[in-house]
Amino acid sequence: MNITVIGTGYVGLVSGTCFSEMGNKVTCVDIDVQKIKNLQQGIIPIYEPGLEPMVLKNSKKGNLLFTTDLKTAIKDTEIVFIAVGTPMGNDGSADLQYVLEVAKSIGENMQKSLVVVDKSTVPVGTADKVKITIQKELNIRGEAIPFDVVSNPEFLKEGAAINDFMKPDRVIIGAETATAIEKMKQLYAPFCMSHDRFIVMDIRSAEMTKYAANAMLATKISFMNEIANICEKVGADANMVRIGIGSDERIGYNFIYPGCGYGGSCFPKDVKALQKIALEHNYEAKLISSVEEVNNAQKLVIAQKITQRFGENLSGKIFGVWGLAFKPGTDDMREAPAIYVIKELIKKGASILAYDPKAMGEAKNFYLKNMAKVNYVNSKYQALENADALVLLTEWKEFRSPDFTEIKKLLKNPIIFDGRNQYNVFNLETKGFEYYQIGKK
Ligand code: UDX
Repeated sequence: MNITVIGTGYVGLVSGTCFSEMGNKVTCVDIDVQKIKNLQQGIIPIYEPGLEPMVLKNSKKGNLLFTTDLKTAIKDTEIVFIAVGTPMGNDGSADLQYVLEVAKSIGENMQKSLVVVDKSTVPVGTADKVKITIQKELNIRGEAIPFDVVSNPEFLKEGAAINDFMKPDRVIIGAETATAIEKMKQLYAPFCMSHDRFIVMDIRSAEMTKYAANAMLATKISFMNEIANICEKVGADANMVRIGIGSDERIGYNFIYPGCGYGGSCFPKDVKALQKIALEHNYEAKLISSVEEVNNAQKLVIAQKITQRFGENLSGKIFGVWGLAFKPGTDDMREAPAIYVIKELIKKGASILAYDPKAMGEAKNFYLKNMAKVNYVNSKYQALENADALVLLTEWKEFRSPDFTEIKKLLKNPIIFDGRNQYNVFNLETKGFEYYQIGKK
């Protein structure tokens, strides 16, 4: 099939590349001239395992093109995906200006019948707005070209996006006409070998599914973090409680790892947007608001443990931070707990030696920009030289079984604050460490 994907951000680039991998001819469009120039030369703007070779292979084959010219891109296309950003507006709702600008351009430029697919995470009711926007432009042009609008929300996990796209748990299609459903079925058939993975529903339910999925997962995490905080108070061990409850199939082991709070581009934004959507319909989503509240507090739990140990004044103290990205396998620092923990420690006078296998560039250039008290080093052990304690914030594989003798030698004090419960308490205490975890006193 001939497909156009508008927006070469995370979702657009991964989707376009994976569609091209299945033999479709895909044109990816973006207004960012430099980004498109880079992509044409095989320079990928994000770090995502497996993405670069797939882009290079399909570009070489001629299956994957990059352009800023939307008009030409949609000329011969059958399906157009809108995959532009929906950043959080000042009031917490998703900002639709980019989605609607693209809809307008589609209406201005489309030449023949099209299926327009919302891939961006958009509030319930957006497909209707997209439809109205396109129709308005067609009316201005005096053209009567038929088109469908479909909602096809994305469930990619950063760091595993290629695999998630190629082998999805489910493909959700919200559509109104048989033509649109048939087109989407044809496109996704190679990805959904099992029929029950292709789920068709009305458009608003599809839009809502995305928010419900992310809010549910965020709720599991905040729930477990709250249980962990109670565990600490009552002298229980959240690691054991996690295993204890996860063994019940109805609860399951996934997404109940206590930690230093969820981050990323989706959960914080979508949980907020869902509250806003509910409020706009006169419903106060109390549980969802609490999920956010618990998470905001959780991001500071490690900093609190540090001040409980070292006192409120951290002047002169140095902390070696392992991990800046919001999770392993990505260089993404959006809403990462590390931002909050590091800022809090610095506010209290401390200095930071930071190490992350992928996210140091993001930290330096954006999220911890111009912070003189954060120094970046090239290895996990360098981050510990003369530091008062190790603070682990992202569970990268290379932090999983470090050389504890070396750590003890490098640190001023053998103290570890672990925001991801990576180590065995008994082992570390036997080795002479003071070890602080989430959910265990
Ligand atoms: C998430 C959803 O999983 C994905 O389906 C959706 O499309 C986008 O949002 P992503 O943001 O890539 O994907 O990250 P995910 O792996 O879900 O982790 C989100 C955050 O939750 C991370 O900060 C992670 O550290 C945290 N987390 C996850 C926990 O604290 N505990 C857990 O048990 C699981």
